[in-house]
Amino acid sequence: MKFATEAIHSSYDPDDHNRAIMPPIYQNSMFQMKEIGEQIPFRYARASNPTRKVLEDTVAALEHGAAGFAFGSGMAGIDCVYRAFLRPGDTIIAVSDIYGGSYDLLTEVYALWGVNVVFADLTDPAYLDKALAEHANVKMVWLETPSNPLLRLVDIETLAAKAKAAGALVGIDNTFATPYLQNPLDMGCDIVFHSATKYLCGHSDVLMGVVAVKTEELARPMRAMMMNTGGVAGPMDCALVLRGIKTLALRMQRHCENALEIARRLEAHPAVEKVFYPGLPSHEHHNLAKRQMRDFGGVVSIWLKNDSKEAANSVIKNLQMVQMASSLGGVESLINHCYSQSHSGVPHEIKTAAGIKIGLLRFSIGVEDVEDIWADISAALDTARTGQ
Ligand SMILES: Cc1ncc(COP(=O)(O)O)c(C=O)c1O
Repeated sequence: MKFATEAIHSSYDPDDHNRAIMPPIYQNSMFQMKEIGEQIPFRYARASNPTRKVLEDTVAALEHGAAGFAFGSGMAGIDCVYRAFLRPGDTIIAVSDIYGGSYDLLTEVYALWGVNVVFADLTDPAYLDKALAEHANVKMVWLETPSNPLLRLVDIETLAAKAKAAGALVGIDNTFATPYLQNPLDMGCDIVFHSATKYLCGHSDVLMGVVAVKTEELARPMRAMMMNTGGVAGPMDCALVLRGIKTLALRMQRHCENALEIARRLEAHPAVEKVFYPGLPSHEHHNLAKRQMRDFGGVVSIWLKNDSKEAANSVIKNLQMVQMASSLGGVESLINHCYSQSHSGVPHEIKTAAGIKIGLLRFSIGVEDVEDIWADISAALDTARTGQ
């Protein structure tokens, strides 16, 4: 099956569910047993639930993995991965251009529990060689590409090969690309993670994390940790994300088309210093993006020429349709001030060094008509030059 078909039909058989065309919502915490020790597929919803299972199998199928796991939030999913595979004394090398919440989880939780947390700029794969040589017990390498919010890419295949040669597991945050644009397990990664809150759900009404692992051997510790710690997704949310996934291919096509068009127009706008979008030839990793991804995604970031809070705020306040919110990946276009929102917990010096300036704005380009999106953004940008 091709992707769009698999997103609709894989992992679900109506015959198993009273011929219901859509996966039913099993709003159950437990399932009946008829005798001691009876082997039944579902017993208790923390272990598994039929609606969640359809979603987990669908994600595993789309990511070409052996098993999937659905959690009550993206962070619960990442936490389960780290807890399942990291121990005190182990080292994790994470890409420096990492989502702010993942940075906080590593520095404020895992570092305090004795995990050696190392951030490395992996845009040049040679930096991974250096980090691997400098640190002992490297158990995991954690990638994120394209990254949030500057859409930097790392070379998944090369980095995964290096990490594996050093005996480390490779996990990747694939939230921005989705399995529609890239399948990291086919490029050598072991574990792929999504904040399903974003594109997989697609309608900004669910908080969820999903993980797919490449082998059954990796699935066992994940299953055990998920059961022990219990951060599982509820059945209603699973049904909503399953519904979202059915239109993922359609939505991603439109997100990508709209984002490329908006990125091109932003490049020509006098209020804009620089546009970050992997689909633009001016993007530092455009060639890698063409090789590694099937299209370039729906997120576009800019640096304003007037790098001030006032200018950024004036763009935000003058938008009529595009709304300011702390997320992305829904059908509606959004704007985010990363400095004070997604990366508020990251120290000023680290943010600025990483390019997350006060005048950085990140757009999640939705699936509305591109002319309406541009009319709104361009009119708001006109005000940024004066900061009014
Ligand atoms: C790239 C990335 N990873 C992880 C997360 C965390 O996911 P959640 O907010 O669903 O817990 C986010 C959320 O913004 C994200 O953008």
